[in-house]
Amino acid sequence: MVFNNLQELVKKRHSIRAFNQEPVTDELVTKILEVVQTAPTAGNLQAYEVVVVKDPEVRQKLARAALGQSFLATAPVVLGFVALPVTSGQRYGARGAQLYSIQDATIAATYAMLAATALGLATTWVGAFHEDEVRAALNAEANQVPVALLPLGYGAVEPQPTPRRPLDEIVREL
Ligand SMILES: Cc1cc2nc3c(=O)[nH]c(=O)nc-3n(C[C@H](O)[C@H](O)[C@H](O)COP(=O)(O)O)c2cc1C
Repeated sequence: MVFNNLQELVKKRHSIRAFNQEPVTDELVTKILEVVQTAPTAGNLQAYEVVVVKDPEVRQKLARAALGQSFLATAPVVLGFVALPVTSGQRYGARGAQLYSIQDATIAATYAMLAATALGLATTWVGAFHEDEVRAALNAEANQVPVALLPLGYGAVEPQPTPRRPLDEIVREL
């Protein structure tokens, strides 16, 4: 059953912030990127880019830009997800620029996170960063918006499950 596989996958996913030095092969990165490519986007405009960062100096810059979250530099690969507001804005105006492109990049990053988990890799969504510094480190254009950084590596610690609010608190019926 596809649902059982999905449930197993999402239960397996936890944020992991320590990596060993085992490299992540290009083959695995490509598998993740091929999953990302299937993500839905507004108007199928695919208003995002993924930056694959292997360069240790750039990973250091990202860690500094992310308020000193040094685990970013210890992961062998970091994926940077960048929204392209101009692409969405050209068709959908302000809503496209301000919302859809961000959502496109966010969904793409979510797909990558789940694909990484399915491949036995560890990751954590990193969103706390100075936008300008990440934009510069990723060599992105001024009008592009970095949305998330995903370090990829093999986990060096056992993941700790985190609590969730009960469904009756997060769901409303009308
Ligand atoms: C939008 C967003 C931003 C986040 N930013 C960070 C971050 O900068 N650093 C970090 O260590 N974790 C970050 N996280 C990870 C969350 O802390 C984590 O997902 C949450 O505590 C639930 O734990 P779990 O991922 O293990 O289920 C972020 C998650 C999201 C969705």
